[in-house]
Amino acid sequence: MPDPGQAVPVEAVAQPLCAAADLVERGQAFVFDVLLRGRPARAFVLRFDGRLVGYINRCGHVPVEMDWQPGEFLDQDKRWIVCAIHGASYEPADGHCVAGPCRSGKLIPVTVVECDGQACWYPCGDIRPVPLAVASESSP
Ligand code: FES
Repeated sequence: MPDPGQAVPVEAVAQPLCAAADLVERGQAFVFDVLLRGRPARAFVLRFDGRLVGYINRCGHVPVEMDWQPGEFLDQDKRWIVCAIHGASYEPADGHCVAGPCRSGKLIPVTVVECDGQACWYPCGDIRPVPLAVASESSP
């Protein structure tokens, strides 16, 4: 179930991602495809301070992906989400910029939850699942 206070649209259906146990504390993120306002984008989920956090993989400085290796978003000390391009740092708990050229920006949150041992995300108005036909066409 979502955390108390976490907004989940009534009509939203949980989208399974991976086994929740695969997301270890401050470890590698699971990256997945979404549609952001109708356009392809990537999102990620990772575990921080015991709970799952999810964001669109898009820096607040320049709209590019941030991971320095696939699924690697945290800095060397595993404290901040850091953009590999110019080093903007974000608070993993809420996505707010804390240092660097992102200034007062923040990451776009994705609602993620653990349900029955799975990590799942919930679509919302701007963030939708990739339709299956499109997803299978882009697979190798
Ligand atoms: S693009 Fe991320 S800090 Fe510049």
